[in-house]
Amino acid sequence: MQHRDGFTSSIGVTLATLGSAVGLGNIWKFPYMTGMNGGASFLLVYILCTFLVGLPVMISEILIGRHVKANAITCYKSLSPKGQPWFLIGVAGVVSAFLIMAFYTEVAGWVFAYIFKSIGLLFVGNGKVDGGAMFTTLVSDPVQSLFWQWFVLIFVGGIIMLGVSKGIEGTVKRLMPILFVLLIIIGVRSMTLPGASKGLEFLFTPDFSKIDFTVVLMAMGLAFFKLSIGMGTMTTYGSYYRDDQNVPLTTLRVMLADLTVSMLAGIAVFPAVFAFGFEPGAGPSLLFITIPSVFDSMPMGGVFQVLFFVLTAVAATGAMLSLLEVPVAFAIESMGWSRAKGTVVTVVLLGLFGAPAALSSSLTADVTFFGLNFFDLYDFLSSNVLMPAGGLCICLFAGWIWGKAAIRKAMSNHGALNTDAISSMFTMLVRFVTPVLILVVLLKGLKIF
Ligand code: PFF
Repeated sequence: MQHRDGFTSSIGVTLATLGSAVGLGNIWKFPYMTGMNGGASFLLVYILCTFLVGLPVMISEILIGRHVKANAITCYKSLSPKGQPWFLIGVAGVVSAFLIMAFYTEVAGWVFAYIFKSIGLLFVGNGKVDGGAMFTTLVSDPVQSLFWQWFVLIFVGGIIMLGVSKGIEGTVKRLMPILFVLLIIIGVRSMTLPGASKGLEFLFTPDFSKIDFTVVLMAMGLAFFKLSIGMGTMTTYGSYYRDDQNVPLTTLRVMLADLTVSMLAGIAVFPAVFAFGFEPGAGPSLLFITIPSVFDSMPMGGVFQVLFFVLTAVAATGAMLSLLEVPVAFAIESMGWSRAKGTVVTVVLLGLFGAPAALSSSLTADVTFFGLNFFDLYDFLSSNVLMPAGGLCICLFAGWIWGKAAIRKAMSNHGALNTDAISSMFTMLVRFVTPVLILVVLLKGLKIF
């Protein structure tokens, strides 16, 4: 049998999984969604969703992926009883990966553009940055929008072509630690701005009256998006896991580290938002407008701004590698294509599919579906519909089809670890608790009943 590429070290496994989880979701989406949905109360619901929904789905996916060692579609197909369409979980996953990449590459494109613009500002002008003007100019120009999206697609495609251990693991392992350090420095600066305490209050003092089912739907969607679950990414990554990796412990570590990055991003953004009188509910532009203001107020701010966006780009890259790997792994294994061909075809398709999202503040701004432009539609459909629905099916599949004995065996690495108590609790969760929670939130949040 041909040797299948995979992650080589235990720390590499953890960092690659973390590399998929940490991304624009922490630095861009988490702050703006928290800002739009009432601050601390949203954070609380989000944390609950992460534990009760996110962790069980993530563990299920990784165990299933590692057991079958194949792409997401093959994994569910090979474990399902004859004639049952569970492989559709994998198909929906490939669709979700496309939808997410279509808008994710646009936001990542803004980040890359900000790196170059910030470098430019170090040399020309008075060093003053107007984040608002910079952002508006960027998104309303169709040529710039498309250029940066393609730039990102080609960049990520290039790394994916190198393969799993050299490309993904090698890149992420080197760059993740730097991200933490920089976020801490920026967080400290933001917290020491005059008037910053209001931001911390917003982030940490909950107002329970702000919670309704729509808020819970958003928080649950964020939990799925954050942990890259419900869509085959973690199943695919699970297939590269080492057989001696402790899966529940690894997922818990990844989840906590991911939450820490989000909190650090919140601490970097909200004190600054309040200190400079910005609106916390500004939406997707929040990061791109406020962060430059924080840097503007710092000595050597220009240099820090470059570093910050470089590291955001790094985080986004780790996440995009995992997104792109889902369709590419499928193309390689199911269509028999080479890695290079699978990558090129996927990148071209993504470019076509992503263009309407990239142009949604310019040429396609007036095209809306249920009031959402392409960018928002791709985001809503993936995070709030497909990923939760995928997560629901994955739990049911793990709990009822794959079954208790198989879970117990896989979780304990065939008896090498003592995970009996955890696997009993886990089976209960994926059979009953998590699916019911997802279903209620989906139906109520989407106003189906
Ligand atoms: N978890 C990534 C983030 O928070 O930025 C986004 C993501 C990556 C979602 C991979 C889904 C995925 F499969």
